[in-house]
Amino acid sequence: MRRAGRVNGQLMDHLRPHVIAGITTSEIDDMVYQWTNDQGHTPATLGYQNYPKSCCTSINDVICHGIPDNYKLQEGDIVNVDITTIVDGWHGDQSETFLIGQVSKQRRDVTQCAFDCLYLALDALSPGCKVSTIGEAIVPEAHSKGFSVVREYVGHGLGKQFHLDPSIPHFPNRQSRIDRLEPGMCFTVEPMINAGTRYTKSDKHDGWTVRTRDGYSSAQFEHSILMTDQGPEILTKTELGPQAGHQF
Ligand code: MF3
Ligand code: CO
Ligand code: CO
Repeated sequence: MRRAGRVNGQLMDHLRPHVIAGITTSEIDDMVYQWTNDQGHTPATLGYQNYPKSCCTSINDVICHGIPDNYKLQEGDIVNVDITTIVDGWHGDQSETFLIGQVSKQRRDVTQCAFDCLYLALDALSPGCKVSTIGEAIVPEAHSKGFSVVREYVGHGLGKQFHLDPSIPHFPNRQSRIDRLEPGMCFTVEPMINAGTRYTKSDKHDGWTVRTRDGYSSAQFEHSILMTDQGPEILTKTELGPQAGHQF
């Protein structure tokens, strides 16, 4: 899992400089496919439940599962790029939201909030803690900024399969107050924060794209985590990526 996380993180390092105005999301997807194959690995999303591409690219009011297409990123957009690599059967899963040039204050703020929520949640984790520790850190932070936390899509256990138990909601619920994060477990934390209401709608035509119901923007960051006896270890973080405390 450490190796899968490291490979996935290196892929994000490879993509980061290219996520700029003028590139199409398909071109980003092509880079994901090429790089992953060149390294001898497999993009997990390609063919996953018939998903057609090697990554997800979710722009502005798209919360998650945006399908790369011929749309050209433009100044003012925010785009989440979510990549998952299978390395010798093990999965690494992470995403970042990118600001394209100068963006509105609201888009910058919701991006900052999603990033801060991820790190607040990670900071709160300790060996054997309840899964609800994550939601208890995230919800007050999002609400204090006037933002909301998506409920329909959650983090997940990670390993030889893409999506495993336990479910990792970014808000506390009954099951997350029972489930615990024991040393040896791998899972994702991937808060989706909406500038407006938390409510979502799924695209009827492509069956994948999830948007905010009110059309306001949404941002997300994701890392793959290993719980150790010493606390959480971030498997997908690299030196080149945004570090804890990063200001957008
Ligand atoms: N990478 C997403 C996650 O963090 C899942 C994408 S599944 C797909 O769990 F089929 F939409 F690609
Ligand atoms: Co992901
Ligand atoms: Co995930």
